[in-house]
Amino acid sequence: MNVTLADGLVLLQSRLPPAAQRELWASCRELAEGPVPMYTPTVRGGRKMSVGMLCLGKHWNALTYQYEDRRSDFDSLPAPPIPPRFAAIATAAAADAGFTIQPDICIMNHYAAGAKMGVHQDNDERPETIAEGVPIVSVSLGDEARVVVGGLSRRDPTFPVMLKSGDVIVMGGPSRLRYHGVTRILAGTAPQGTGPGRFNLTFRQW
Ligand code: SIN
Ligand code: MN
Repeated sequence: MNVTLADGLVLLQSRLPPAAQRELWASCRELAEGPVPMYTPTVRGGRKMSVGMLCLGKHWNALTYQYEDRRSDFDSLPAPPIPPRFAAIATAAAADAGFTIQPDICIMNHYAAGAKMGVHQDNDERPETIAEGVPIVSVSLGDEARVVVGGLSRRDPTFPVMLKSGDVIVMGGPSRLRYHGVTRILAGTAPQGTGPGRFNLTFRQW
């Protein structure tokens, strides 16, 4: 079921059937343990994030907040390519929500029980792409998450959105720069063949 939460903010519930969730989960695990492994980024100021991260297509540098081909804030390995079937999920979901995206970045985050992500804006992509409202497409797998979404100012009130395995949320147009964060992982809620924990894939166009 597709729910428009605000102009440009569309939640595609149960977008991925269980078999696709399991297949995508297995691919994420394989990538996470592959030659360019998932790692825990250290952000500006020296704090470690609570998620494991693996960037595909281009690497998001947690110290400079810029994209680069090699992860120079960690081990200088090149960002692996985005598997075409991953990108196809994002383009189709975006189209269903009324948007066009040519994803060249996919940030894969793994949340164990207790992991969170502070409220932030996704604004490290090209200014032109952001101005055009090209969406961020976010795919959830495994444990359910409580996400909060706010407005375009950090001071705007936030509202909670529960994201289950197989859900996709699209943030484009006037919602492209909404503040958002992850406040809680509901441990033990992952469907069979996914989990433990949660993978989130955010597809972006640089
Ligand atoms: C993110 O904002 O990068 C991740 C959002 C999520 O995990 O749902
Ligand atoms: Mn984000």
